[in-house]
Amino acid sequence: GPVHTADLVVFGGTGDLSMRKLLPALYHCDRDGRLSPETRVIAMSRGGLADADFRGKVDAEVRDSVPVDDPAVWQRFLGRLHHVSVDVGAANHPGWHHLAELLAPHEERDRVFYLASPPRTFGPFCRELAEAGLVTPRSRVVLEKPLGHDLPSAQRINDEVGAIFDERQIFRIDHYLGKETVQNLLVLRFANAFLEPIWNSLWIDHVQITAAETVGTPGRRGYYDHAGALRDMVQNHLLQLLTLTAMEPPARNDREAIRDEKVKVLQALRPIVGTEADRFTVRGQYVGAGDLPGYLDEPGSTPPTESSRRVETFTAIRAEIRNWRWAGVPFYLRTGKRMPYRRSEIVVQFKDVPHSIFPGGSPNRLVLRLQPEEGIELHLMAKEPGAGEVTLKPVPMALSFGKTFTARVPEAYERLLTDVLAGNPTLFMRRDEVEAAWRWIDPILDAWRATPALPEPYPAGTTGPAGAHELLGRSGRAWHEEE
Ligand code: BG6
Repeated sequence: GPVHTADLVVFGGTGDLSMRKLLPALYHCDRDGRLSPETRVIAMSRGGLADADFRGKVDAEVRDSVPVDDPAVWQRFLGRLHHVSVDVGAANHPGWHHLAELLAPHEERDRVFYLASPPRTFGPFCRELAEAGLVTPRSRVVLEKPLGHDLPSAQRINDEVGAIFDERQIFRIDHYLGKETVQNLLVLRFANAFLEPIWNSLWIDHVQITAAETVGTPGRRGYYDHAGALRDMVQNHLLQLLTLTAMEPPARNDREAIRDEKVKVLQALRPIVGTEADRFTVRGQYVGAGDLPGYLDEPGSTPPTESSRRVETFTAIRAEIRNWRWAGVPFYLRTGKRMPYRRSEIVVQFKDVPHSIFPGGSPNRLVLRLQPEEGIELHLMAKEPGAGEVTLKPVPMALSFGKTFTARVPEAYERLLTDVLAGNPTLFMRRDEVEAAWRWIDPILDAWRATPALPEPYPAGTTGPAGAHELLGRSGRAWHEEE
């Protein structure tokens, strides 16, 4: 469709997220013709850079990570970039005046204020933007994670931002929603007829949602000590995958219809309270193994403290959804750093055949892989060729997006930035969603805080502590591992 001209103002504009994800994604949008010729990107930071310095920095640090097949397009992209210096909490900082001068001649444009700065700056930056008279009816604000560290802090941020912007102007990012397979999950479920009749507790035994990473947390201790896997990955990414897997079919492909159904799933999660956390949750922390350092030995700007010893770098949870469709079907969630592979997937395990006439065999599984190679696999039982006794073997019926579609799979941020620029909030979290997610997470955090026990150690490069295997093993189930 036609692309609007917008001024995109990025707070934290020279930070890690901006340099590694946002600017490369914007370049791709530019290259694919999804930015209007006048669209500008204004990076805000404390850096005191001139436009030319910032362009030089992007040229030096971003160019090699993107495909520059036409140098003219790269120059056009650099030409969109500006830099303004501000500091949070400094309402009369000259930067606000400078920003106003840049924006004022284009009052009629869409304005997007992208807060890729720490969450404590969200409220103050919004207030200062309003005081500087920069918030127009055509303005939107994008909030990066983490959106608070518990329900009260999330509500405070939502109140502060909500005092300046209407809910329809607020775009809360969860970059997992921009991943291609995640959107494909909705298409798979709601554009194919055969799945819906079996998508329930009559046919499905359980669901596993895994986000395994090989990376550790080098240099991130300052953040990670106070986050941990539950806040960093489960509250947002894994719960979003759970809602899309479990939601009822919406009546329309429309922003509110889809988000209404998602929030109902979060509200139906059975709370895990007090000592139940011992049975339904597992915490782990990686320790050094081979060449890999343990969490406490990761090089970091700060030495380890008591919080470092208590923080989980791995968690596994048995969640339950209390409604007609899902009663009795566990949703196992698992995420960890320094696991043996990088793999994010949703595994739907169907029930076993009611009566087996062949030896061996295992239940059908539907695997939706988000990464590394995006695809969908349905594991069916087949007969191994041979004249002897029948031997069963699971064979995947596989759809590989990379092999089926030749177009490049866009990065999550490309899709999300395109949607923000177009004003489409469907793939962003609504206030009630974020708060419902925290409402379920908070009691688990409380239970973990209340126990003197430390997270279970697991050697770096392994699939997590023994407890994670027992969580499923107790009911005769096992995590889906590479065969
Ligand atoms: C971020 C977390 O939100 O997601 C990181 O803060 C994590 O700790 C990252 O590594 C994972 O994203 P992806 O897209 O690589 O799965």
